[in-house]
Amino acid sequence: MKFDESLRLCEQASKTTPGGIHSNVRANWKPHPMFYARGQGSHVWDADGNEFIDYVLARGPLLLGHSPKPVLDAVKRQLDIGLMYAGQHELEIEAAERFCRIVPCAEMVRFSSSGSEAVTGAIRLARAVTGRTKILRFEGHYHGWFDNQFWNFAPPLDAAGPRENPTLIPVTKGQSPADAEHLVIRPWNDLALIEGAFRQHPGQIAAIITEPIMCNMGGIMPRKGFLEGLRELCTNNGALLIFDEVITGFRVSLGGAQQLLGVTPDLATFAKGMSGGFPVSAIAGKREYMRRFGDLSVSHAGTYNSNAPCMAATVAALDMLAADGGAALKHAHEMGKQLMTGIADIGRKAGKNVRIRGTPAAFFVSFNDKEEIVDYRTSLSRDREAYTRFWLALQDRGIRVIPDGLWFVSTAHTQDDVGRTLAAVAEAMKEV
Ligand SMILES: Cc1ncc(COP(=O)(O)O)c(C=O)c1O
Repeated sequence: MKFDESLRLCEQASKTTPGGIHSNVRANWKPHPMFYARGQGSHVWDADGNEFIDYVLARGPLLLGHSPKPVLDAVKRQLDIGLMYAGQHELEIEAAERFCRIVPCAEMVRFSSSGSEAVTGAIRLARAVTGRTKILRFEGHYHGWFDNQFWNFAPPLDAAGPRENPTLIPVTKGQSPADAEHLVIRPWNDLALIEGAFRQHPGQIAAIITEPIMCNMGGIMPRKGFLEGLRELCTNNGALLIFDEVITGFRVSLGGAQQLLGVTPDLATFAKGMSGGFPVSAIAGKREYMRRFGDLSVSHAGTYNSNAPCMAATVAALDMLAADGGAALKHAHEMGKQLMTGIADIGRKAGKNVRIRGTPAAFFVSFNDKEEIVDYRTSLSRDREAYTRFWLALQDRGIRVIPDGLWFVSTAHTQDDVGRTLAAVAEAMKEV
């Protein structure tokens, strides 16, 4: 497969754009950052005209596939009428009512544009509600790139400190060290250590924030009772429980991980998956907390929040997802299950130590000898070089997956896609 045009565009872009990319996350592609020309349904075409079955899905937002028609039609209708008003419009109500009907914790919702913003708003609200400042977060969890949460996402083990009380490590140069003062880091899936953290910081922890399924780092499921335990500890210690459902929301089940796993947080954040690919995020939660945005005692703002085309997209996307008892999502889950079992079978037959974790519409593939992967440090046992050979071999065969192991499946993926993907997987497995 040739990527000459992508390379040429990358070099051209690099003259005016640092690295030729507008998000650092996109730098990890090989052989170089790629340029894409168009997408339709479950397929995407790059600038060289190569066609791929796409399991990147823009890193999650394209839960309905590329350019879902009902969403585009709704946006197009809105484009002719008006874009933004710095005031309210009816589509906001329609979107919020649908959202609150679907998401268990959502007695009220506020929309913004990105996941990082929603997380920042939820944390501010938790601090305001509790009058405390410390946030307990988990090693290896990703909650966006803002200074307040951009810590201990993938720390090198030799600098990470003791497992029980990891050293605070910023992800990038340029972050304010002051944010570290307000963070408590713990490994995931170890309830006793969280209990200990509440004892060590009595009356100081405002909230625990967690990805309810550890999608970004290994597709790790919570141990039985772990989320329930967090729920209880927060309630007993006067802290709020925040689920970051930016990936899991509307994807692992219509009502998100909180519905799938049966634990209701006080607040939750959403983004990818709720608006057919348009930039919309949400902070949702209990009325008694959310009302503080409404009485203006806690600030939440954003010029682009709830702009009309994005709200039109959200209404249409939520309708597509909720139609026929969630049939579209059930289909995505069926495709995902076939992929998960298919890849595992192919790996086993080929004698490879392939492991599949997570849920059908967002699962993680890795090559590990170790079976028990429960947190960031155990997830490091995966053989990254083996996975790199695997994904590059898939790319050569027209299958596009995220380089670190996470696969997203959309409602637009077909049985034919799954068949072709598994045939490519069988070939690619030989190169691992
Ligand atoms: C769980 C989680 N939270 C927050 C974010 C940040 O969202 P955004 O990139 O829209 O700011 C992401 C992005 O990948 C995410 O996966």
